[in-house]
Amino acid sequence: MNLFDVYPLFDIEPVRAAGLSVWDKEGRKYLDLYGGHAVISIGHSHPHYVKRIARQLYDIGFYSNAVQMPMQQELAEKLGKISGYEAYIFFLCNSGAEANENALKLASFQTGRKKVISFKASFHGRTSAAVAATDDPSIVAPINQTDNIIFLPFNDVTSFEEALQLHGGELAAVIVEGIQGVGGVNIPTVDFLKALEAGCKKVGALLILDEVQSGYGRSGKFFAHQHAAVQPDLITVAKGMGNGFPVGGVLISPEIEARHGMLGTTFGGNYLACAASLAVLEVIEKENLLENATIMGHYLREQLEGMPGIKEVRGQGLMIGIELHEPCAAIRKELLNQYGIFTGSSSNKNTLRLLPALTISKAEIDQFLKAFSSILTKKVTA
Ligand SMILES: Cc1ncc(COP(=O)(O)O)c(C=O)c1O
Repeated sequence: MNLFDVYPLFDIEPVRAAGLSVWDKEGRKYLDLYGGHAVISIGHSHPHYVKRIARQLYDIGFYSNAVQMPMQQELAEKLGKISGYEAYIFFLCNSGAEANENALKLASFQTGRKKVISFKASFHGRTSAAVAATDDPSIVAPINQTDNIIFLPFNDVTSFEEALQLHGGELAAVIVEGIQGVGGVNIPTVDFLKALEAGCKKVGALLILDEVQSGYGRSGKFFAHQHAAVQPDLITVAKGMGNGFPVGGVLISPEIEARHGMLGTTFGGNYLACAASLAVLEVIEKENLLENATIMGHYLREQLEGMPGIKEVRGQGLMIGIELHEPCAAIRKELLNQYGIFTGSSSNKNTLRLLPALTISKAEIDQFLKAFSSILTKKVTA
């Protein structure tokens, strides 16, 4: 049997990784500034993470959600404490799309309504309601098409308020990314997030903050929306939560009451996922990674400002978009092939995305800056 051809692939076969370094089968070393789509939060194969998962596997790897699993409660408590959402309730699942499906479903159960506001350039996943709320018709299959999603311009308070006037009474939820990732690192303004919070309250809809990419310390705060001091009803997490172990979750406002049958999962919250997620939080805390993300992100953005060929640098913490005056594909290719540096792209083809592990050092940033600056300078003087 052959594999379904899902993605265009680089001709590189990683066989080992540690921190921000990845080695291919020929022994070539790469600097990973993308973390496999923003997943690597505490660094590849962090020793504490490896030890905690391995130890768990020797004890017990899996049982279904029909038995007592105190590790899930331990994880919820630790996450509540570190994120400042101690009063919230936690539902565990396996991926970002699944987290958003469950958040949208909960909002609909809670309000008894169907309509959802989402935003231009958003990405929320590839399944059912999550893909319907994603602004990319090329990945929406006919079965996922629905009239229930209203797409509005991002960061536009006026069109949001107009939409509320028209659809407020039918609205179950507003879903927005803490920072738009796939769309090209677009940061919601404080006024915009505050308007979403107030608008949802006014019409009885729920605010869903998709922190799948921007959460877990990436922005320098635990959640990106905390820069705007808003409090959503539902917060979705995945990616950095497991540092590569597939896990996701929804933080749920205590105002939403659980009822058996509302949600469910076979794999969600299994022992290995809990061990991986606990290890990530322990390392984030012990190594002060929110602080490192803030300091290193600031340094990186500061050094990028003023480099030739850059139109705009956007970002918070270690979620950084570098918008060029032309498509970034050739530069990303050169960074990878000539300099051994992994970076990401976005649906805005001119924007290169950097999403390194939160453990990144100044020396690693300097390695990238040197390579990037020589590529840009060569282009400008050519
Ligand atoms: C903001 C956001 N939400 C949801 C998802 C979907 O996550 P997953 O691929 O784990 O389903 C992604 C993935 O890129 C994302 O960036």
